[in-house]
Amino acid sequence: MTRPALPLPGDDAQRASAALVARIRDEIARAGGWIGFDRFMELALYTPGLGYYSGGAHKFGAAGDFVTAPELGPIFAQTLAAQARQIMALSAPRIIEVGAGSGRLAADLLLELELRGSLPDSYRILDLSGELRERQRATLATRAPHLLPRVDWLDRLPERFDGLVLANELLDAMPVHLARWGTEEAPGAILERGVAWRDDAFAWDDRPAQGRVLEHAQEIAAEHRPPAAYVSELGLAAADWTAAWGNILGCGALLLIDYGFPRHEFYHPQRSGGTLMCHYRHHAHGDPFFLPGLQDITAHVNFTAIVAAGHAAGLDLLGYTTQAAFLLNSGITDILARTPYENHARYLPQAQAVQKLVSPAEMGELFKVMALGKGIGQALAGFAAGDRSASL
Ligand SMILES: C[S@@+](CC[C@H](N)C(=O)[O-])C[C@H]1O[C@@H](n2cnc3c(N)ncnc32)[C@H](O)[C@@H]1O
Repeated sequence: MTRPALPLPGDDAQRASAALVARIRDEIARAGGWIGFDRFMELALYTPGLGYYSGGAHKFGAAGDFVTAPELGPIFAQTLAAQARQIMALSAPRIIEVGAGSGRLAADLLLELELRGSLPDSYRILDLSGELRERQRATLATRAPHLLPRVDWLDRLPERFDGLVLANELLDAMPVHLARWGTEEAPGAILERGVAWRDDAFAWDDRPAQGRVLEHAQEIAAEHRPPAAYVSELGLAAADWTAAWGNILGCGALLLIDYGFPRHEFYHPQRSGGTLMCHYRHHAHGDPFFLPGLQDITAHVNFTAIVAAGHAAGLDLLGYTTQAAFLLNSGITDILARTPYENHARYLPQAQAVQKLVSPAEMGELFKVMALGKGIGQALAGFAAGDRSASL
């Protein structure tokens, strides 16, 4: 995995990263010299105070490392409001947002639902990061102070819930296992790729796969026959998280928005290095060992595995399509038309955001929207045209 020359951060940030490196190195030593990549990723992103999401890194927006849809402007949230409203009308007027980032989506969605006369009774946020929880509160206090009393924060998944569960770019931030299919000496071997500490640095280390990793990797080998030395991810945590909702949801739907594809594209023979990607100050590269705690580490979502986990847990697939189709079905062009074209200063940034959200060359095709639910007896409007469920 290579990476370009990247700008170095300030001294404090480098010290924080060195402390996290020491923490992970000690855990590797305690574990006998090796940890799975899923554990490395979990520590790099979520170690309290030091992990990328749990520490002080700026993360989102132009001044951070990457830009997500809600950070492009309010039009993403305003458009989502149409689907949120329908799901709440068919279940209960409540929303849980998981992995709420800066809080932009929460604030802009609540403002739009207020405008449409469909405010939820409660908007609950669940985020692993305490640092982001404070940022979410501050964003809401600035952008929608009168709606802040409706919002509260959860420490864990609830026991029962009816309503809408919303997650934008959550699943891609969950730890993944890495598998390797075949070596030169043993073309049929299946290995788990983990992390060791060698010569004062993290190093890749492959061991024979066992247990669940082996089971899932064998299934993929049987179905997709990966070429020799093929390395890719297994998103077991994302599948487990989805399945957990099978026991929680009474009547309602999960709306999952993320970059990814169905399994046959995910494990395409040409994608021989997988989809693992790191983001640091708007540079994308493939080295997860670079400055742990200061860069995002992410993998694309295998949506076939998500729907399979949902089905096994009693959730129905209510729709699956591209972000472009979903936003167009949900009326993004009508929302853009609310701003008069002659008002260039307001119109142009919104038109640019729409272009980025729906263009197939930007987020429109790679990003998908999936709805899974229970007790929803009506077709969801966001999937009215261009549904791709048959591709899963
Ligand atoms: C890539 S960011 C996306 C943030 C935001 N949704 C956006 O679109 O800007 C991922 C978010 O998910 C949170 N997260 C990751 N795993 C989580 C989990 N298991 N439960 C709750 N939050 C989680 C992270 O702390 C972070 O806020």
